[in-house]
Amino acid sequence: MSGVRGTTGLLIQRKLRAGGLGSTPHWADSNWASSWPSSLSSPETNPPPPSSLLYVHWPFCARRCSYCNFNKYVVPKEQEDRALHDRMTECLVREARTLLALAGARAVRSVFFGGGTPSRMPPGSVRRVLEAAEEFGGLSGGAEVTLEANPAEVVGGGARLLRRFRDAGVNRLSLGVQSFQDSKLRMLNRDHDSSAAVKSLSLSSEVFPGRFSADLIFGLPGQTLAEWREELRTLMDGFSPRHVSAYQVRIGVFLQ
Ligand SMILES: C[S@@+](CC[C@H](N)C(=O)[O-])C[C@H]1O[C@@H](n2cnc3c(N)ncnc32)[C@H](O)[C@@H]1O
Ligand code: SF4
Repeated sequence: MSGVRGTTGLLIQRKLRAGGLGSTPHWADSNWASSWPSSLSSPETNPPPPSSLLYVHWPFCARRCSYCNFNKYVVPKEQEDRALHDRMTECLVREARTLLALAGARAVRSVFFGGGTPSRMPPGSVRRVLEAAEEFGGLSGGAEVTLEANPAEVVGGGARLLRRFRDAGVNRLSLGVQSFQDSKLRMLNRDHDSSAAVKSLSLSSEVFPGRFSADLIFGLPGQTLAEWREELRTLMDGFSPRHVSAYQVRIGVFLQ
């Protein structure tokens, strides 16, 4: 199976991933394409896929959740400044352009901004990555564009922030609710409580009606089946999202 690996070690096949820190500026070098093996760029051996998916990773978080083993960097508030955002945005735009071009992408039909905490991205950065996907990957108007969002940012920024993401091109939200129980949220070291979980779902259904999903975690220490049923009931009775991601907690050295 053929594939293209980005400078940050992310693999493209039918699915394209862009993200990470410190991308080499291939795009600034006009000879970059000729330095790749011909099997990656020849249309005969690697015909362009009919449609492609792009994953974009925003790696910064406000705090470290006790269970999380994803690629993320906890940046003190005073250091998460405009300069850091600008650098990260440049890396993502350059890498998206490079990987889309190398993959010969013609019709990106889905973009997923994951993290980390992409709801901490400036909406203008979202727009710039989408412009790159449009220019270099044929992103169409009908494509699904999802942003992973944490309740703390959604409640902090309110409907205004969600509308800014929507105006930047996002048309679907994936909310990291995790639990509606404060004791479980504290165990997970989340930076939101159950009322913020509920409020963020309300705001999402207001700005993205019918186009939001929610992540919940099950299998937590001490969690009973009745409690897990109650979590699902609270979500489905209150908000009926079309999609629920239920993650069984993976306990490793990360759970404190
Ligand atoms: C990497 S997170 C990013 C989303 C966002 N930052 C948040 O916290 O909601 C994506 C999802 O992975 C799940 N996850 C992360 N670490 C996990 C673990 N150790 N076990 C089970 N699920 C996990 C969480 O449910 C989370 O919503
Ligand atoms: S679960 Fe989400 S917010 Fe928490 S550390 Fe992981 S990526 Fe960051």
